[in-house]
Amino acid sequence: MNTLEIHDARLAFGDFIVLDGITLRAAKGEFVSLLGPSGCGKTTLLKAIAGFYPLDSGSIVINQQDMRPVKPEHRDTAMCFQSYALFPHLTVAENIGFGLKQKKTDKAGINECVTKIAEQVSLNAHLQKMPSQLSGGQQQRVALARALAVRPEIMLFDEPLSNLDACLRDQVRLEIRQLQRQHGFTAVYVTHDRAEALSMSDVVVVMNGGVIEQAGTPEEVYFHPVNRFVAGFVGQANFMKARVVLRDEARGYYHIDCVLGLMEVNSPTPPVADMVYAFWRPEDALPGKTDNSLNCRSFEVSAVSFLGNLSELQVSPPGHHQTESPWLIQLVGHNCIRKGEQVDFTIPPDKIRFLQESCE
Ligand SMILES: Nc1ncnc2c1ncn2[C@@H]1O[C@H](COP(=O)(O)OP(=O)(O)O)[C@@H](O)[C@H]1O
Ligand SMILES: [Mg+2]
Repeated sequence: MNTLEIHDARLAFGDFIVLDGITLRAAKGEFVSLLGPSGCGKTTLLKAIAGFYPLDSGSIVINQQDMRPVKPEHRDTAMCFQSYALFPHLTVAENIGFGLKQKKTDKAGINECVTKIAEQVSLNAHLQKMPSQLSGGQQQRVALARALAVRPEIMLFDEPLSNLDACLRDQVRLEIRQLQRQHGFTAVYVTHDRAEALSMSDVVVVMNGGVIEQAGTPEEVYFHPVNRFVAGFVGQANFMKARVVLRDEARGYYHIDCVLGLMEVNSPTPPVADMVYAFWRPEDALPGKTDNSLNCRSFEVSAVSFLGNLSELQVSPPGHHQTESPWLIQLVGHNCIRKGEQVDFTIPPDKIRFLQESCE
């Protein structure tokens, strides 16, 4: 059963179309993230689900009920923001219990719920403090606890971790996922951070300019993106225009002519045209010649960055000083490759992937 269904949602601010034909579903207990660049309409979609913005057309259905006539306060949703939006004059306990008080829950019921949730988010030692006495991470937990306390069917998160430092972000990320499993709410989670979206979600919805480019599991959008936008937004990608010169769909075997010359490709999905975009990821190139010599090339290294766990090389294909955007190759750990060297790499045929996007 779907907790949330959005059908062909459209919303404009004046002449500016912010959401255009948005259709998506979330099953009960599913974690769905909306991933996209700033300004693509993520927050607007979240606020439309919460009922703060009426749609111009299309519908939002929660638990089989059309939400058009339902006011925000009567929707089974709670929102957790980037700016924690805590009430500064209320204690942590009062902040967490705020929604319950509004729902006219009795005092004993509020106390019981606040104590239980505070324990789950490790705030029990801070219940009598004021928000200003807490760290950023603790304030974010109060905001989370306050939203959880009303036991919403759908939790709406708007970039809740973007004000936290990197270590804390990783930790709270895991905690949110754990709480979600424990409470069983359906989550719609807005982020522009690909690592967050890929690591937390059951479904990643990639948005761009008010439309959904692709929705799929983290693996689907990473390994089988439909176009250059998705491929480049969920990870780093080296794009090539490819002319398909040999096509054996039964075996999933192809030859392409591209900036690297003639290359072999193994792909379960056939190219949609004879001129298509293909790509491979920086981590896919193998150093040196392997058995498959057809896909081995010598690349000129134009820059080397040591990233701790990885070394990242900026490379150009043989005989080309520039591609549309610089190509990257990542190698695990440290290595001795220097700027200006020519280095052999093999791109395995099953790592070259076709996008569903033709080119001229
Ligand atoms: N209340 C509003 N009135 C007019 N334009 C708005 C309003 N809210 C957002 N926008 C515009 O809509 C677009 C999408 O905004 P938003 O949904 O906040 O994007 P995101 O959350 O993906 O960064 C932006 O161009 C923004 O300037
Ligand atoms: Mg936003």
